[in-house]
Amino acid sequence: MHRTLKVQMMGVGLTVFCLGCGMVPSPASLREAAQRSGMLVGTAARPEQLTEAAYAATLAREFNMLEPEDAMKWEVLRPDSQSFDFSQADRLVDFAGQHSMKVRGHTLVWHQQNPPWLTQGQFTPDQLAGLLETHIKTVVGHYRGKVFAWDVANEAFDEQPRLGQLRDTIWYNRPGIGLAGNGTAYLERCFRWAREADPQALLFYNEAEAEALGPKSDAIYAMVQDFRKRGVPIDGVGFEMHIGNLHSDISSFSANVGRFTALGVQVQITEMDVSLPVDAHGNASAEDLQRQADMYRQVAAACLSHRGCTAIQTWGFTDKYSWIGWQSKGTRGAGLLFDRNYVPKPAYQALRETLGAR
Ligand code: G3I
Repeated sequence: MHRTLKVQMMGVGLTVFCLGCGMVPSPASLREAAQRSGMLVGTAARPEQLTEAAYAATLAREFNMLEPEDAMKWEVLRPDSQSFDFSQADRLVDFAGQHSMKVRGHTLVWHQQNPPWLTQGQFTPDQLAGLLETHIKTVVGHYRGKVFAWDVANEAFDEQPRLGQLRDTIWYNRPGIGLAGNGTAYLERCFRWAREADPQALLFYNEAEAEALGPKSDAIYAMVQDFRKRGVPIDGVGFEMHIGNLHSDISSFSANVGRFTALGVQVQITEMDVSLPVDAHGNASAEDLQRQADMYRQVAAACLSHRGCTAIQTWGFTDKYSWIGWQSKGTRGAGLLFDRNYVPKPAYQALRETLGAR
C-alpha cells in the first residue's frame, strides 16, 4: 500500500512517499476480523468436545461468540418436570467466560428435542403453560448476565405444504398453553416471560428457510411488525442459513435483512453451513469447496452491508462434528469452515477476508 505523508521539516512542508506505511496486517483470526468490523462471529459448540485440545483451541482462537448446539434444549436441561440440569450448558458458558466470548442461548420454545416425560405426559393447557413459564423464567434467570441473547422461540412457522402457517406443536395447539387458534399469542407470552426474567438479554425469534423473501419470511415479518407496534419485547430475528444446494438463490437475502432491520430489530445469521456431497471418506471435491467459499462470501457480504446485521454464526466449525453427516447418513457433509483435522478451508479464508473488509 502506498501512502503519501505530508511532513513538516524545519518549517518546510515536504511530501514524501512511504511504501507500506500504515499497512494494516491481515487479521489473524475470524474473531480479529469480526472485531474490526464491529461484528460477532460465532459457532454452535458441544460441551463433550471441550476436552479435545484442538477443538477448544480453535473455538477460543477464532470465535467471539458461541451457542450451545444442544445443551440448552429441554431434552438436556430437563430430566423431569421438577428439576433442571445445567451441568452441560454451564461448561460451555464457563468456557465462553474464560475466553471473552458472548453466549447466545438456544432455545426455549421448540417442537423438537423435548423429553418424553413432556411430550407423552398428557398435560392440560394450564399445566403446560405453568411448565413453560417456569422453564423460561428459571433458565433465563439462571443465565442472567451471562447469555446476552436468546432464541426464545425456534421454527414456529411451518414448511411445505403449510408454508408460513403456524406449525402444530405441543406449545401452540397440541394441546397448547391455552392460546390455540390465537395466532402468535403463545409466542408473545413467551417473549414477555423471557423479558421478565432478564430485562437486559436480547430476545430473538429464530427460523429455518426464511432467509429469502417468501411466504415464511412474510409471516415472520408480519409477526415482528405486530410485536414492535404493540411493544411486545422482541429484539432480533435469526436466520439459520443451512444451505444444502450450491445453486440456492440467496439474491433476495439482503432485501429480506433490510426490511427486518427497518423494523428496528437486529438480524443475525445463526446456524450457517453449506453441505456438500462427499465420498466414503467424507471428502468433497475441490470445485465444490471453492463454490462453498463463494457462498460464505456472498452471505457474509450481504449481512455486512446492513448495520443491523450483527452476527454471523456457523453450526459447528469442524467437519469432524456436524449434524449433517448424521442426518444424511454420511452422503453429505464438509459444510463448515475447518476440515476434520482443524485445517482451515477455502470457506474460512473467504469469511475472514469478508469480515475484515467492512
Ligand atoms: O452423533 C450421534 C450418533 O453417534 C448416534 O449414533 C446417533 C443416534 O441417534 O445420534 C447422534 O447424535 C445426534 C446428533 O444430532 C448428531 O449431530 C442426536 O441423536 C440428535 O438428536 C442430534 O440432533 C440435533 C438436532 O438439532 C435435533 O433436531 C443436532 O445435534 C443439532 O445440530 C440440531 O440443531 C438444529 C437447531 O437446534 C435448530 N435448527 C436446525 C438445526 C439442525 O437440525
